[in-house]
Amino acid sequence: MTRAQRKRDHINYALSTGQQDKTGFEDVTFVHQSLPNTALNETSLQSQIGELSLSSPIFVNAMTGGGGEYTSDINKDISILARETGIALAVGSQMSALKNPDERHTYEIVRKHNPDGVIFANLGSEASVQQAKDAVEMIDADALQIHLNVIQELTMPEGDRDFKGALERIASISDTLEVPVIVKETGFGISREAASALSETSISAIDVGGFGGTNFSRIENQRRSRMLQFFDDWGIPTAVSIVEVSSSCNLPVLASGGIKTSLDSVKALSLGACSVGMAGAILKNLVDHGLSKTVDEVNGLHDDIRFLMCALGCETISDLHAVPLVLKGDVYHWLKMRGFEPEKYSRKA
Ligand SMILES: Cc1cc2nc3c(=O)[nH]c(=O)nc-3n(C[C@H](O)[C@H](O)[C@H](O)COP(=O)(O)O)c2cc1C
Repeated sequence: MTRAQRKRDHINYALSTGQQDKTGFEDVTFVHQSLPNTALNETSLQSQIGELSLSSPIFVNAMTGGGGEYTSDINKDISILARETGIALAVGSQMSALKNPDERHTYEIVRKHNPDGVIFANLGSEASVQQAKDAVEMIDADALQIHLNVIQELTMPEGDRDFKGALERIASISDTLEVPVIVKETGFGISREAASALSETSISAIDVGGFGGTNFSRIENQRRSRMLQFFDDWGIPTAVSIVEVSSSCNLPVLASGGIKTSLDSVKALSLGACSVGMAGAILKNLVDHGLSKTVDEVNGLHDDIRFLMCALGCETISDLHAVPLVLKGDVYHWLKMRGFEPEKYSRKA
C-alpha cells in the first residue's frame, strides 16, 4: 500500500463513515438576551489566531494532498473556496511530498490558486526540524500545524507504534521555525494534561481536534481484518476539549472536530475558541455539491454567524467569549468530574 493509495482510501472512508455527531455541542445552550443592543451590520467576523489576522473565524482543516491528481484537484477546489470566501486553509500532511517530490505539486497548487490567503502547512509529530522548514517553504505557509494522531496510528495496520519524544520534537520545531506552530489533534481531542505540557513549549496555538466528527478509528478499522473497535468510541468530545484546553493554558484555542453548522461554530467560539476548523463537512460539501455551492454554503455560514452574534449582543468574535452558556448532560458531568466548574460558564458577564 503506497502513501498515495492510503490517502485516497482515507478520503473515501471519511466520506462513507461520515460524521459521528457526538461533539457535545447539543449539551451547550445560549441564554436568550432580549436587549442585545447590537445592529446586524455592525457585527464583524474579523478574527485573530495569535499574531495571524483573519477575515473569518472559519478555516478548512487539514485533509489532503499527496494522493496524486485526485488530491491535487481537491486541494485546488479548497484553495479557490478559501480565496472566494476569505477563510484560511490547511493542507494535509506533507510528509508524502517530502518523501516523494512527485507529490509536491498536489500541495503547491493551493498557493498557486490562493496567492494571498492564509495557509497552514501540516506534518505529524514525527517530523524533524528540517522537514518542518521544508513543508513551510513548499507552500510559503503562514503557520505550521503539527498533528497528533496516536489512535489513528495504532488503528492503522501499517501505522506507527512508537510515540516517544513527540513533545521534544514539537518544542525544537517551534523554537526554530519563523512562522507560528499550531498543534492539533485529529478527532480524539486534547486534554488538560496534554495542553499543559504543550504550553511549556513555544507553540503559538492549540487546535483541540475533538471527538464527535470524522472518526479515524472507524476509518482505519475499515482497513483492518481484526478491528480495534474499542477505539471507535474513544476521545474527548469537541465541546469538552475546548474547555479542557482553554482552562488550562493561555494559548489561543482553535476548535475543530465535527463542526458543521453556524450554531456549533458560535457555541465553540463562546466556549473560548478564537477560530473554528471544518474538515469532513467541507469535503462532503465539495464532493456532493461542487465548488460553487460550497462557496455559497460558507458565505451562508458567515451570514448565519453574524445573525447569531447580533442575537447574543456581540459585535466582535472576541465578544462571544463573554456570552453566558448553560452546560448540561454529559458535558456538564465530564467537566464537573474533572474539576472545571461548569457553573462558571452560566454566570459569565
Ligand atoms: C480525508 C481526511 C484526511 C485527513 N488528513 C489529515 C492530515 O493529513 N493531517 C491532519 O492533521 N489531519 C488530517 N485530517 C483530520 C482533520 O484535519 C480533522 O482534524 C478531523 O477530520 C476532525 O475534523 P472534522 O470532524 O471536521 O472532519 C484528515 C481528515 C479527513 C476527513
